[in-house]
Amino acid sequence: MSTLQLKSLTKSFGDVHVIKGVDLDVAHGQFVVFVGPSGCGKSTLLRMIAGLETASTGEIKIDNAVVNDISAAQRGCAMVFQSYALYPHMTVYDNMAFGLENAGMAKDAVRKKVTEAAALLRLDSLLERKPTQLSGGQRQRVAIGRAIVREPKLFLFDEPLSNLDAELRVSMRAELRDLHARLGSTMIYVTHDQVEAMTLADKIVVLRAGKIEQIGTPKELYERPINTFVAGFIGSPRMNFIPRSALQAMPVLVSQLPNSATSVGIRPEHLRVLAASEAAELGVGLLLTIAQAEYMGATSLLQGTLADGTKIEVMQQHAVPVTRGDVVTLVMDASKLHSFNANEQRI
Ligand SMILES: Nc1ncnc2c1ncn2[C@@H]1O[C@H](COP(=O)(O)OP(=O)(O)O)[C@@H](O)[C@H]1O
Ligand SMILES: [Mg+2]
Repeated sequence: MSTLQLKSLTKSFGDVHVIKGVDLDVAHGQFVVFVGPSGCGKSTLLRMIAGLETASTGEIKIDNAVVNDISAAQRGCAMVFQSYALYPHMTVYDNMAFGLENAGMAKDAVRKKVTEAAALLRLDSLLERKPTQLSGGQRQRVAIGRAIVREPKLFLFDEPLSNLDAELRVSMRAELRDLHARLGSTMIYVTHDQVEAMTLADKIVVLRAGKIEQIGTPKELYERPINTFVAGFIGSPRMNFIPRSALQAMPVLVSQLPNSATSVGIRPEHLRVLAASEAAELGVGLLLTIAQAEYMGATSLLQGTLADGTKIEVMQQHAVPVTRGDVVTLVMDASKLHSFNANEQRI
């Protein structure tokens, strides 16, 4: 079993407060993703868990034991970075075996572990190659293999896929999910990419400026974001935010909003473009002046502005015959509407 608890954890570099009181519980076998914009403290937090940075205040517990004063080498965490950090002069086999041999493990036992990890990661046929003879994805698999052979209590990943091209990132995501399912290990994964977070995580931790904004499953964060920050960060294309004052053309909807709602959020996929005849018949809806229309086969993405200048994106599951300058009528699925107060908190 490998669990992790963070209690009131803080970290300052001099008078720069980077982590400002983080509390978190990670159960055994969970795949937890820390997501947030660049500079919000994700790597610092991960490095504190690994023992590469000391905590300023607060507690880190692994398997219910406080590890604040335990060295990185003794904590039993294995970290995989964005830069693969492989030894260039060593073969794939030696890159994976090095740490174990160094720790005094017998050669036969090392061979068994490296062979198993290589099979798991489909590196069997590449064991005699040097890192320069590998693709980016293969190098990252070697780095992951090096972590696996150590049988760590916790796997810590810091943006491991960010150096890979888009297509490879998608296939490596699937490989990581598969790996997690097969190993059943506890994994903490850092990314600034919300799509990666949504597709990998059992539990997402959204960070902003050294604080946790919200913790939840991908579905919880998508359906019930706690504030406009999380609402805008999770989901692609981004949620639209519309000031209450721009909704006057939808009187019934406005009358149903909580009094304290100063704005609403609606995702691009929850807006609907009415056909002209439908719009005339209904007589309500928001008028959107189209700035751009992109047809992508399975979906169409429209961008435009409301009368008050609010920018809106709409995603439809079919082609929408509009071009720049057209004015269309939008309606929204009221059950998918998010209301926010003046402090940008969900109501
Ligand atoms: N050793 C350090 N000394 C001073 N500031 C640091 C140090 N390491 C990180 N920081 C600062 O802490 C903040 C968070 O950094 P980091 O954890 O790397 O963010 P992220 O990984 O989310 O992009 C940044 O503003 C960064 O400049
Ligand atoms: Mg980072």
